[in-house]
Amino acid sequence: MGPLCGGELEGGRFFLINSESETALTKELPERAQPPELSHALPSHAMDALIASRHSVRAYLNQPVPQALVQEILQVAARAPSGSNIQPWRVYVLSGAALTRVSREVCLAHDQSAAHLVEPGKPSPFTAPYAYYPRQWTEPYLQRRRDNGWGLYKKLGIEKGEKDKMHRQHQANFLFFGAPVGLMFTLSKTLERGSMLDLGMFMQNTMLAAKARGLDTCPQAAWLPYASVVMPLLGADPEQETLMCGMSLGYADTKARVNDFHTPRESVEGFAHWVSEPAACGVQSMEGRLHPTLDRHLSTSPP
Ligand SMILES: Cc1cc2nc3c(=O)[nH]c(=O)nc-3n(C[C@H](O)[C@H](O)[C@H](O)COP(=O)(O)O)c2cc1C
Repeated sequence: MGPLCGGELEGGRFFLINSESETALTKELPERAQPPELSHALPSHAMDALIASRHSVRAYLNQPVPQALVQEILQVAARAPSGSNIQPWRVYVLSGAALTRVSREVCLAHDQSAAHLVEPGKPSPFTAPYAYYPRQWTEPYLQRRRDNGWGLYKKLGIEKGEKDKMHRQHQANFLFFGAPVGLMFTLSKTLERGSMLDLGMFMQNTMLAAKARGLDTCPQAAWLPYASVVMPLLGADPEQETLMCGMSLGYADTKARVNDFHTPRESVEGFAHWVSEPAACGVQSMEGRLHPTLDRHLSTSPP
């Protein structure tokens, strides 16, 4: 696979360029698979490479990100689909002193929370606005979660029982892992769960558009318990909006060991169920797809 050269935004169109095989692969695509504005620009494996190259980055360089670049990323991300095109996403972009203030206040709250939990029977004074994770873990999710956590700790040289080190690593979340930009995603409280799908797609677009510009990200649910601290600092009304997720955005520190942590995925066989008769995927005409009574109705309706 040839190297992914990067992205450029030209006249509102987004191009991904793969230097070696752009032309060859584009030719292989069936004619109707190419929207007109992407006809000479988007070999599928350039897109695959972009998707595969995104991973959660947990150490960043102290290098500023121009506001115009963040603006451009969000503009591309907003091409995400949403039910009835309601575009429910809202995003707060933190940088400079505003980011420092949020980090400082939440680190304080996190320390307080940890101290609180030491006292038996006392719940944390900080609660998340919604449950991101299940209250009761079941397999295979529990094992995957454990593998992920211990895999990350192993990379960082943290061993079982090293609570202080774990606390510090968790706290790195609240420093946006050193990234110069922090994003906070919210949804209006008037919306329902469906909007969470739309927001997820917007967030994935944000991460990919960032990656195409040489920037990296880490989505962060870690902020959720501290929503009551974060929201006022954003100027957001917690009565009107729910904090859904945070995200670090910046240039990866490629020398940091933590950024060598790469996660596995289940094979397609593990999660896809092919529901087809006969067994192979085939093309069938529309005939026979409707219930017989509807079929009859349609065939007698005037054109
Ligand atoms: C909605 C969401 C919230 C996450 N929250 C955190 C977080 O708070 N802290 C963190 O270090 N990683 C967080 N992650 C990153 C996941 O751990 C990561 O996506 C997963 O292990 C797969 O690894 P990859 O992103 O490198 O492919 C989050 C991911 C998602 C999608």
